[in-house]
Amino acid sequence: MAKAIRISKTGGPEVMEYVDVEVGEPGPGEVRIRHAAVGLNFIDCYFRSGLYPQPLPAGLGQEAAGTIEAVGAGVSDFKVGDRVAYAGRPNGAYAEARVMPADILVKLPDAISFDTAAAMMLQGMTVQYLLRQTYAVQPGDTILFHAAAGGIGLIACQWARALGANLIGTVSSDEKAALAKAHGATHVINYKTENFVERVKEITGGRGVQVVYDSIGRDTFIGSLDCLRPRGMMVSFGNSSGPAAPFAVSELASRGSLFLTRPSLGNYTSTRAELEATAADLFAVVNSGQVSIEINQRYALKDVAQAHADLEGRKTTGSTILVP
Ligand SMILES: NC(=O)c1ccc[n+]([C@@H]2O[C@H](COP(=O)([O-])OP(=O)(O)OC[C@H]3O[C@@H](n4cnc5c(N)ncnc54)[C@H](OP(=O)(O)O)[C@@H]3O)[C@@H](O)[C@H]2O)c1
Repeated sequence: MAKAIRISKTGGPEVMEYVDVEVGEPGPGEVRIRHAAVGLNFIDCYFRSGLYPQPLPAGLGQEAAGTIEAVGAGVSDFKVGDRVAYAGRPNGAYAEARVMPADILVKLPDAISFDTAAAMMLQGMTVQYLLRQTYAVQPGDTILFHAAAGGIGLIACQWARALGANLIGTVSSDEKAALAKAHGATHVINYKTENFVERVKEITGGRGVQVVYDSIGRDTFIGSLDCLRPRGMMVSFGNSSGPAAPFAVSELASRGSLFLTRPSLGNYTSTRAELEATAADLFAVVNSGQVSIEINQRYALKDVAQAHADLEGRKTTGSTILVP
């Protein structure tokens, strides 16, 4: 038996129950892993609230790090005792231990602690594909990145600086602005008190930016399009304020032949080769010291409702882990 979080209905943080579950033995292609640390991500709130549907009852959580305890038939790349981490489906990382497919695991280099791995696999690999693949950021580019003091945001500020780009970050408070700047943002806009479209135009001398990374959705989507220069790229990768309203494709033409993509990590790590290359690039940038993973909140797994309330209440900065 192990403690785990289960939901039998969707709703607010209170629907998450801390229960005993039978973990069992791994089947073909599976391993049993004992978690040392579990990552908290905004996507977990979407599954909990029902914005992203899944059959119920269900587990939650897509990211953790720990040690392999048992290996099922046909698993040759991993053995008992391996230090591993993962980011992705199936949900169920909010647990002391679980049985899961081996094919989304990566081995952890000795220099990466379990806490750091649990905090960075999902957010860090997301930043990797956003900045290095969806739109490959070049030295001298000016880019707009919303929620720059969040988990994804602080990693993006540092990685963009390492790539030689000028990152304009948006945040909702002066404290978050200072944090984003300290991590490499060139300019910071408080989008609660300032008009971010006007400020981006001012900062870029009226030209606009090459790319916008927008994880806010409803509250920022159209404004983000207005920040782009002709033939710029709109990367809509989240819904922290709710899903963006439907819009006419012709809006892309009237703003200057814009590009729009709605990417997700799974589509960039769907083969072993893609997953290993993305993780290796993340490990390298962290090992080099160019990106440090800021774990600014830790909660006991049983207190996950508080963690969700704080994340959705915009009280967190950087990354958050749950301790089983
Ligand atoms: N597509 C992908 O592959 C992928 C992968 C990972 C994450 N994501 C998305 O990336 C985003 C960031 O994820 P994260 O885990 O690192 O979270 P996070 O950025 O640490 O937290 C979300 C932040 O969004 C901002 N925000 C703006 N409006 C908000 C609202 N109405 N309610 C709550 N927050 C609001 C807040 O920062 P301010 O207070 O500064 O505004 C808040 O701190 C999420 O939208 C997530 O779904 C997408």
